[in-house]
Amino acid sequence: MEIKSAEFIISNTDVNKCPQHDKAEYAFIGRSNVGKSSLINMLTGRKGLAMTSATPGKTLLINHFLINKEWYLVDLPGYGYAKRGKSQQEQLTRIINDYILERPQLTSLFVLIDSRHEPQKIDLEFIEWLGENSVPFGIIFTKADKLGRGRLTENVTRFLDTLKEQWEELPPHFITSSLDRLGRDDVLDYISTINKSLL
Ligand code: GTP
Ligand code: MG
Repeated sequence: MEIKSAEFIISNTDVNKCPQHDKAEYAFIGRSNVGKSSLINMLTGRKGLAMTSATPGKTLLINHFLINKEWYLVDLPGYGYAKRGKSQQEQLTRIINDYILERPQLTSLFVLIDSRHEPQKIDLEFIEWLGENSVPFGIIFTKADKLGRGRLTENVTRFLDTLKEQWEELPPHFITSSLDRLGRDDVLDYISTINKSLL
């Protein structure tokens, strides 16, 4: 899919104030610093579109980006950043959960997983929560450039094997690097296929 336009629309903390429209939304969630905002910039080919930072906890709001005037990418705050105070963490959890559970336009959520690590409890619990709430999702492994092919395959396989213990069918999954644009076509084609199925 060609990205002809990508515009920042609005940031907010309240799902009820999100833009009113009947277009599909694809949102990115995952631990702080996993690479959600970087992936949005990579997919759209617009470097500074979503704000990124080497320090975890950069994105604190729900951010809507209108793509090709037809559908939205949504950047969400990360979960699981230990250095946050309890009340900020609770507020972010509420923002994230409300968006995921109460946004009818949310067509598919992408859960980002750092491909460098072995399966983390916080990610597995989050995915389990999505299952309990019947939220459609895919998995995007990030930062693939940071490790060799053997290790990458090993980590991805281990994560998927862990999911298989809970799930009969695996969700769609993608291996990406925002640094070298790995996986860009796969993710955009997947979104494009869903968009066409909604017409
Ligand atoms: P929060 O908004 O804090 O939740 O983080 P985020 O998930 O949006 O992460 P962000 O995109 O801000 O990236 C965090 C850090 O990881 C930045 O320093 C990025 O440059 C780096 N990063 C993101 N994706 C990649 C990648 O594919 N490869 C490499 N090498 N670094 C990446
Ligand atoms: Mg971010």
